[in-house]
Amino acid sequence: MLGCIVVDRTLVIVKPDGVERRLIGQIVGRLEAKGLRVVAAELRTLDAATAEVHYAEHVGRSYYDGLVSFITRGPVLIVVVEGPAETWKVVRTIVGATNPLEAAPGTIRGDLASDLRENLVHGSDSAESAQREIAIFFPRLA
Ligand code: PPS
Repeated sequence: MLGCIVVDRTLVIVKPDGVERRLIGQIVGRLEAKGLRVVAAELRTLDAATAEVHYAEHVGRSYYDGLVSFITRGPVLIVVVEGPAETWKVVRTIVGATNPLEAAPGTIRGDLASDLRENLVHGSDSAESAQREIAIFFPRLA
């Protein structure tokens, strides 16, 4: 069918450690090299209220307070990327396991990170999370 192009979007955040370490270019470059397209981006420091909405599903976990402090300590790059299908899954594969010590070589965390908290990148963990998180940061795209 002519003109029927399916796209799927997800949210990526280059965390404060990624911005501080001047890794924005490498991180976004790896996503673009895979064929994903950046459709929105904003560099800003999150306030605690926004971080708490974003990480709402983790309330009560032992690492929650530290995670909110970390993500609000300095600027982050919030990005929406687009791909043909299951973009959240493509991003998570490129980003690698949550714990950089377990992340495979060739992934962003496997190559560039070594600390569980300072693991450089957030990627939505499902299609539903992608939709919810895009609505938090880029309501005009929701
Ligand atoms: S998942 O797959 O995204 O649900 O990963 P999960 O392991 O549940 O982790 C969710 C987010 O919490 C962060 N995290 C931690 N931060 C600090 N210390 C510890 N121990 C820790 N464990 C998990 C992890 O980096 C995830 O953050 P995001 O921003 O989603 O990547």
